[in-house]
Amino acid sequence: MVFNHPIGVRIPVGPPIIIMYKIAIIEGIHQDGIKLLKNNSNYKYEIIEDTSEKNLINKLPDFDACTLKISKLSSKVLTHCKKLKAISRHGVGYDNVDLKYLKENNISLLITATANAVSVAEHVLAMILSITKSVNKYDNEVRLGNFKSNSDQIITCELYNKEIMIAGFGRIGKALIKRCKSFEMKVNIYDPYVDEKTIKSFGGNKIDSFEEGLKTSDFLSLHMPLTTETKNLINYSRLKIMKKNAVIINTARGGIINEVELDKALNEGLIFGAGLDVFEKEPIEKTNPLLKNTRVILSPHSATFTNECTSRMGIETIKNIIDFFDKKIDKSMIIKL
Ligand SMILES: NC(=O)c1ccc[n+]([C@@H]2O[C@H](COP(=O)([O-])OP(=O)(O)OC[C@H]3O[C@@H](n4cnc5c(N)ncnc54)[C@H](O)[C@@H]3O)[C@@H](O)[C@H]2O)c1
Repeated sequence: MVFNHPIGVRIPVGPPIIIMYKIAIIEGIHQDGIKLLKNNSNYKYEIIEDTSEKNLINKLPDFDACTLKISKLSSKVLTHCKKLKAISRHGVGYDNVDLKYLKENNISLLITATANAVSVAEHVLAMILSITKSVNKYDNEVRLGNFKSNSDQIITCELYNKEIMIAGFGRIGKALIKRCKSFEMKVNIYDPYVDEKTIKSFGGNKIDSFEEGLKTSDFLSLHMPLTTETKNLINYSRLKIMKKNAVIINTARGGIINEVELDKALNEGLIFGAGLDVFEKEPIEKTNPLLKNTRVILSPHSATFTNECTSRMGIETIKNIIDFFDKKIDKSMIIKL
């Protein structure tokens, strides 16, 4: 039905057309995110817990959008998903999605760009402090009854005045520098894609040569994506030029460090220690030599598992889908394919 307006504009009347979108929540998500869909009559959702390729091929074709944690969305799965318009990553990395397929089929990729930087930056500092203060070793000695006797064999140090190189100066690198500055550390930034002015405005010192940075750093924290350029960036020959007291932290992606060569370098005392949240193969394989190396501390890709961050990520993952269909999504949440 059409109502003829006196000035000539034809205005359609009648009930508004409601478009119902179906959202697949792969692996589940924080309840705070689910609540956004529960209260919205434009959306139906289903949680898909069985993430086997077979089940995804069976289930996903029915959905307009999906959320995604660590499961793999290969072209083999995606080719069955003819209705799919958007994938909303619960996180910022997206090496588990076939980007070529998304581009060719006009499927948008959304990320939770603002939700996790603080938790990851705090995780880096937790690892640095745990290693430099020998938290685990002291705890163990006290429990064994060695209240003072072994203290002189445990090496600890301050962060004050020490040099850290932050490699990759995006959201997490920027959250980390603020925290390092509060410990009065000297911060060098290696990121060929960020200009000196931006780095200076955060109180950092831009360095152009990664190798030169390695030679003087007491700490190295990695915050870049895994690409063909960054794969095996930390290998034996680079570990060899580092200081013997150096500590490396990787909360970015497994594969940026060559794990076998790191294990060798730690055993030979080329560097002091390492803290790893991410691994080449996840879950970490039982045969990985780093599991037996006491110079390394490990966490199960859990840097974002804080209460605050999981809630924020759940909300942002779903809000991105709603904003996408409402055509008001923030550009920083969409990956340019
Ligand atoms: N452990 C976790 O749970 C967790 C959580 C969030 C993010 N991450 C990972 O942390 C990393 C950083 O995340 P972010 O949100 O800060 O990303 P971001 O995109 O905001 O920043 C990445 C930065 O890396 C820089 N970069 C790219 N290639 C580089 C190279 N070859 N050398 C140096 N710098 C380079 C880019 O210029 C950019 O500034 C990513 O790998 C992401 O997947 C891990």
